Amino acid sequence: MIPVNEPLILEKELEYVSDAIKTGWVSSEGKYLRLFEEKFAEKVGVKHAIAVNNGTSALILAVRALDLPAGSEIIMPSFTIISCALGAIYNDCVPVFVDADPETWCMKIDDIEAKITPQTKAIMPVHLYGHPVQMDELRAIAEKYRLMIIEDFAEAIGTQYKGQQCGGLGHIGAASFYANKAITTGEGGACVTNDDALAAKLRLGRNLAFVPETRFIHYELGNNYRMTNVQAAIGLAQVERFEEQVQKRMDMGRIYTELLQPYAQAGIIQLPVQKEYALNSYWVYGVVLNESMGIDARQCMQALAHAGVATRPFFYPLHLQPALKKYTWYQAEELPVSKWLYDYGFYFPSGLTLTEEQMRAVVMIFGQVITQLTGRVIA
Ligand SMILES: Cc1ncc(COP(=O)(O)O)c(C=O)c1O
Repeated sequence: MIPVNEPLILEKELEYVSDAIKTGWVSSEGKYLRLFEEKFAEKVGVKHAIAVNNGTSALILAVRALDLPAGSEIIMPSFTIISCALGAIYNDCVPVFVDADPETWCMKIDDIEAKITPQTKAIMPVHLYGHPVQMDELRAIAEKYRLMIIEDFAEAIGTQYKGQQCGGLGHIGAASFYANKAITTGEGGACVTNDDALAAKLRLGRNLAFVPETRFIHYELGNNYRMTNVQAAIGLAQVERFEEQVQKRMDMGRIYTELLQPYAQAGIIQLPVQKEYALNSYWVYGVVLNESMGIDARQCMQALAHAGVATRPFFYPLHLQPALKKYTWYQAEELPVSKWLYDYGFYFPSGLTLTEEQMRAVVMIFGQVITQLTGRVIA
């Protein structure tokens, strides 16, 4: 089976981890945390990075740091992971969904303004599968309506928007370091910001809102979202290879694009786009099947799995999530592009250990599967 996403763990990780363990710094104090935070902030081009235990916590913590009144609305794409909605809901806020752009698959900027109400307090753009959101247009809307921006760059570590790294383009950025991400700490995440006051709030919030002077007297409620020094030791080794790891996936994106071009030209699939404002980091290589072929993503993925190629489906849209329907704020609505992406989209093996030979095998098997399911033969 060609795996969908294997992390690249090398000797340096072992060296740093064993040092962290041997010195006894296994919890959330220690030099690796400080070094990892500094190095990650430097690579993203921001003043502060606050490491946490996962990307979902980073989103929840980021919203919490904004101190929004209960019932505040946060605009976000429907086509994203549940973690984005949790960021709002676990802070007594309301997620408001916008549809996706059919080309970039990121949130459709033109649909944002229609969703703004007096309760809207923030926007959460999500750079999906390595492609950036149109941040200038989004920032113009945020400024006009005085909205905060929480940028989810879990899937866009190393992605650039108009020459700038994603993550530092809003008020707070939230990253994930899960094993399939561009930089991994096993489980892990971070909030990044250029704002000193927000950084202080994020640090307080990840650590049960302990105030050093009064130790066990709490003036606000935080959470234990701390990353361990052992996780950060893995992260430091990873972030020292930041450019290499990002470049590897960009190269994979180029190779897949070349290999899959005949299928795109034959109208079988839609490939990721490369907009002039974007440097796509190709976190994963997603494609969307053309509806007219009469097969959906699940049929294709099942046949690929039978033939030894592991894939992953695209997100199930948030506006259709069963778990959200019980909330009083829930509104049934149609966001057709998000649903279309779920029905017809999936991604190919995209891990850092994947070889060009494996990519060629993946595309060859994909061709066989298309022939088997539709009868079409692509030369
Ligand atoms: C866009 C996006 N945001 C947030 C997360 C949540 O990160 P984590 O899995 O580290 O909680 C993920 C998932 O990995 C993600 O893809």
